[in-house]
Amino acid sequence: MIRVTFVESSGSAHEIEAQDEVSLMTVATNHAVPGIVADCGGSLSCATCHVYVRPQFAHLLEAPTPDETAMIEMALDPSPRSRLSCCIKIRPELNGLVVDLPERQL
Ligand code: FES
Repeated sequence: MIRVTFVESSGSAHEIEAQDEVSLMTVATNHAVPGIVADCGGSLSCATCHVYVRPQFAHLLEAPTPDETAMIEMALDPSPRSRLSCCIKIRPELNGLVVDLPERQL
């Protein structure tokens, strides 16, 4: 079982059982997590799936591609912890992952 947690800017947490091999964005949208808009459906062209990965999990993720990095710059309030959830593939190693959601995506 792989569990991931999305924490809204209000502090509300959504702990969800995630399926191996799907994107973190898909996990969020399948469970109607507030704050993940995902306008482009995961085609890396909207930045509305923006999340902040908690530092203790950063080493578990593959480095962002140049395309992801460029799109993060289009997100509202980007930070060094920013990632696009459509670019994070769920793997067993990510069990326990916690990401924070921005106050808004648009
Ligand atoms: S869903 Fe559009 S960039 Fe991730």
